[in-house]
Amino acid sequence: MTDVVIRATGLFTPSQSISNEELVAAFNTYVAKYNAAHAAEIAAGELTALTESSAEFIEKASGIKQRFVLDKSGVLDPTRMYPRFAPRPDDALSLEAEIGVAAARDALARAGRDAADVDAVICAASNMQRPYPAMAVEIQHALGIKGFAFDMNVACSSATFGIEQAANAVRSGSARSVLVVNPEICSAHLEWRDRDCHFIFGDVATAILVERADMGEGGWAILGTKLATSFSNNIRNNAGFLNRCEDTDPNGRDKLFRQEGRKVFKEVSPMAAEHISTHLSALGHTPAGVRRFWLHQANLSMNQLIARRLLERDATFDEAPVILDQYANTASAGSIIAFHLHHEDLAQGDLGVICSFGAGYSIGSVVIQRR
Ligand code: COA
Repeated sequence: MTDVVIRATGLFTPSQSISNEELVAAFNTYVAKYNAAHAAEIAAGELTALTESSAEFIEKASGIKQRFVLDKSGVLDPTRMYPRFAPRPDDALSLEAEIGVAAARDALARAGRDAADVDAVICAASNMQRPYPAMAVEIQHALGIKGFAFDMNVACSSATFGIEQAANAVRSGSARSVLVVNPEICSAHLEWRDRDCHFIFGDVATAILVERADMGEGGWAILGTKLATSFSNNIRNNAGFLNRCEDTDPNGRDKLFRQEGRKVFKEVSPMAAEHISTHLSALGHTPAGVRRFWLHQANLSMNQLIARRLLERDATFDEAPVILDQYANTASAGSIIAFHLHHEDLAQGDLGVICSFGAGYSIGSVVIQRR
């Protein structure tokens, strides 16, 4: 079997960001307008008045301080509370492909590779802009890559599951090099008018170049990947092509992200910690021997809890870096951003774990070692 490496990663960060204070100001204006417009129904007990959000709550409950978005003005418009994306003709590069291409180009440049070096593209993300043609095929075309491409979705675990598919393709010889691209336009599947979750997500794109080890020096050896799923409705989004056939509201609240945040926290944290330690043990390692954990970035306390379970003490930022304070939850891209921004200082031989967890439930871990 061929040895496989992560040669390089790439990152696209939108130029616009929204602080908690800006977000809460827009939300609270929306709340005031809603309550004023429905004053009579609220007074009659027919409607419940909406409650204001708070920047202090958001940071305390999640660790999030701001998020990057592709369109700030639509989200912060209290009469809209949703990004505004101009429709593009079919012959223009679509928005999700555009940000995927930007991250992919970054990864290729860092690896010193061009399109001719890559045999396949996997677009692994929690939302695809359309059913077909696959986003991955459009990204492949825009980059001028030959070979094959396909989309896959395992929600927040899409990137780690994508890395395993890429590693298997390289290991089996069906590709020398595979680009895994994670364009996450989370702003478009978030209900910005829901106080319980309006602060959770941000937009970003990441890319991971998975290659045969013998294509060059350096990179990160993939020692193993481990995937697990267990069905849960606690994070769910019912948007889909059957909506227009159903008698329910095709634009209803259930067609956007919704979750039982507390249950997710309680159920997924122990699962993720157990998953990582079992994976490490199967490879002959222990959590104490891991130099750095690049964990999924959804909630700061969740990551602290997972790290504490693994290390039997609190992890330092150096051991489990946090990027969700700046990026918020970026679905599948979160652990890859953490890796991308915080790996240069590790030494040859250092061991690391990339781990994602989220809807499904799904958990994916990738154990890597600096070459
Ligand atoms: N501003 C102010 N107060 C708020 C608020 C807001 N935006 N949203 C909720 N609250 C209030 C609630 O009304 C509640 O008040 P009560 O105690 O009087 O009933 C209180 O704050 C606690 O709400 P709760 O929803 O239980 O908060 P939490 O501490 O569980 O934090 C999450 C919420 C979503 C941040 C947290 O559960 C989480 O991150 N879970 C994991 C989510 C995750 O990883 N999801 C994966 C997605 S891919």
